[in-house]
Amino acid sequence: MSKQFYVTTAIDYVNGQPHLGHAYEKIITDVIARSRQCLGEKVFYLTGLDEHGQKVQQAAQDAGKDAQAYCDELAADWRAFVEKLGLCNHDFVRTTDAAHKQVVEEILQQLYDKDEFYEGEYTGFYSAKQETFLTERDRKEDGSFDVIYGEVTELKEKNYYFKLGRHQQWLIDHIEANPDFVAPDNRRNEVLGFLKNEKLEDLCISRPKERLEWGIPLPFNPDYVTYVWFDALVNYVSIPRCRGEEASLWPADIHVIGKDILKFHAVYWPIMLKVAGLELPKQVLVHGWWQKNNEKMSKSTGNVVDPVEMIEEWDLDAFRYYVVRELAIGPDGNWTDEGFTTRYNAELANSLGNLINRSLSMLNRYRDGILSAPHDDLGAEAIAARDKLVEQLQANELQAGLMTIWSFVARMNQYVDETAPFKLAKDPDQADRLGEVLYNLTEGCRLLAIWLQPYLPTTSCRIMKQLNVPADLVNIAEAGWGGLNEGHKINEPEALFPRRDK
Ligand code: MSP
Repeated sequence: MSKQFYVTTAIDYVNGQPHLGHAYEKIITDVIARSRQCLGEKVFYLTGLDEHGQKVQQAAQDAGKDAQAYCDELAADWRAFVEKLGLCNHDFVRTTDAAHKQVVEEILQQLYDKDEFYEGEYTGFYSAKQETFLTERDRKEDGSFDVIYGEVTELKEKNYYFKLGRHQQWLIDHIEANPDFVAPDNRRNEVLGFLKNEKLEDLCISRPKERLEWGIPLPFNPDYVTYVWFDALVNYVSIPRCRGEEASLWPADIHVIGKDILKFHAVYWPIMLKVAGLELPKQVLVHGWWQKNNEKMSKSTGNVVDPVEMIEEWDLDAFRYYVVRELAIGPDGNWTDEGFTTRYNAELANSLGNLINRSLSMLNRYRDGILSAPHDDLGAEAIAARDKLVEQLQANELQAGLMTIWSFVARMNQYVDETAPFKLAKDPDQADRLGEVLYNLTEGCRLLAIWLQPYLPTTSCRIMKQLNVPADLVNIAEAGWGGLNEGHKINEPEALFPRRDK
């Protein structure tokens, strides 16, 4: 069975409704997944929910609901969210599914049999907000913990430990030998800095059942439940295994995650896999966090962006465009409503929408929608842009890829100004030249539609329909100049992104 390109998102805690950060991560992963499809690979995209642990148990209790019933209700909202974002995901994992639980138990038992765990007394702290154990080392000078940890409780309880510490040097060597394992570079340096400067402690992998019920019982001691991260990380393997597709999917090509969960993915997870005898993912790709108006988003202050509201008000592709165009994968981003409106009007309505609309309208008006013979004023520039875009997509430089597409949009708009087809149309001696110009514009629109497939799939299909070409997936790298034939007739144009004043 040949290897598929396997890409994942983090799985989200079901303790509330999805927000901009969740939408962003799923959309960039979707663009990566679709890009690879458009470059000829068979792709598997996994996303889903992290349902166990103290944080979710607490949220269920606060809502006065049984934990499973609480998760089931919210899972329906999250699945609807995935639909709303137009994702091409191939499965949706829930860590409360029996099949996932079984794989977690298998791996726990396997490691227990290999003597990778030991019992010990845990004295330290726990942050339910981050679902993480904390030690004295994490305390600030005044004894408090960073606000990101929320309420921190002191724990003294018997638990099971995973012998993580002894793999420290191996992991350093792996990261140094595989420069792409953690991307971008600053995140790789962060992990290496941590591994080189701090002693890696063994990891507590359980909680006593009398303290926390909402988890997978340890198969070798049901008085304990599995630490939620040990359960959640396994989703990346459990789904391929449950589907009988481990051989074609594992190892994952890319785990897309946010910067706050780097240590879990670039330290704990590789060691878990090594000890379980499984290959390591090829890359952990780390994105930054969104703020709104330069402040942390927070429900309590009302400083939030509701992705569903935005999509309903503006259209899905406009939302997808803004988040990918505004923020490269890596740094933090800042959402502003003004920025959104400006990009919408300038880049979608004016530059792209107008170009497609006026190009196709002129062909309809002056030539009844029928193309003359192929001509290539813009061919070489289009192919140069395509090749650049392909490289950028392969490097997951999604924002840069959009900029490449829009440079060609700008070039085409300039070409309209230079050639002035509306003037040519008035001069019968220029009939041949008009046919050439209209061919260049229409063929340029066709390539734009192909290049937009990963980013704005609905818009891409709409352009293809207007062009009267099949809206099937086209390989971007193979789509050359001159695909439209003489005599091809297009359909009526329709406005793509109507200008908006607010
Ligand atoms: N359940 C864990 C992940 C387990 S993966 C085996 C978790 N869940 S989460 O719901 O808190 O976060 C899910 C993802 O959303 C993370 O990658 C996180 O970084 C991302 N984001 C959460 N808030 C964000 C922003 N404000 N901006 C961008 N991404 C953010 O962590």
